[in-house]
Amino acid sequence: MNLRAARYRGKPVLTWWEGKATSGLGTGTHVILDDSGRVIGRVSLNGIVRGAFQSCALSYWVSAGHNGRGFATKAVCALVRVAFEELRLHRVQAETLLHNAGSQRVLERNGFVRYGMAPEYLNIAGRWQDHAMYQMVKPSPATD
Ligand SMILES: CC(C)(COP(=O)(O)OP(=O)(O)OC[C@H]1O[C@@H](n2cnc3c(N)ncnc32)[C@H](O)[C@@H]1OP(=O)(O)O)[C@@H](O)C(=O)NCCC(=O)NCCS
Repeated sequence: MNLRAARYRGKPVLTWWEGKATSGLGTGTHVILDDSGRVIGRVSLNGIVRGAFQSCALSYWVSAGHNGRGFATKAVCALVRVAFEELRLHRVQAETLLHNAGSQRVLERNGFVRYGMAPEYLNIAGRWQDHAMYQMVKPSPATD
């Protein structure tokens, strides 16, 4: 499995931070780089479940000074491709706080579909908060 240099439109957008994908739980955390190679965020696939589920969970962040320039969108695009093409998973899940419109835009631009709301899903900033639930299932191959 080559996750070392995921590329988007010819440019590297991800590289290893922790450098291993051996746990069976996820791919480890990847750093998001700006054009000069500086680390400006992180993205990961976690909680891989095989069997009938074939699913994993996606998480990401980009530093505030670099927001709005497409870094999260490109990094998510690259890791989703890894999930479907290299890990052969069927589904990628992600969740956002209800008011996190920027994160929701990142997911929707990558083809994620909002399928519900989970009450008190994660403990963020010291309290259990409701989350918008998103998923993307592996696109079916085109049939002519
Ligand atoms: C959410 C986050 C990952 C976005 O990263 P980013 O690199 O700025 O994302 P992108 O530039 O790829 O895309 C952001 C999109 O959201 C839009 N957006 C940002 N804030 C928005 C808001 N308040 N309302 C509506 N749209 C918003 C941007 O305009 C952009 O869309 P556009 O290109 O169509 O204009 C980043 O802000 C972040 O790390 N936040 C803190 C941690 C976090 O929320 N992580 C996700 C947990 S679910």
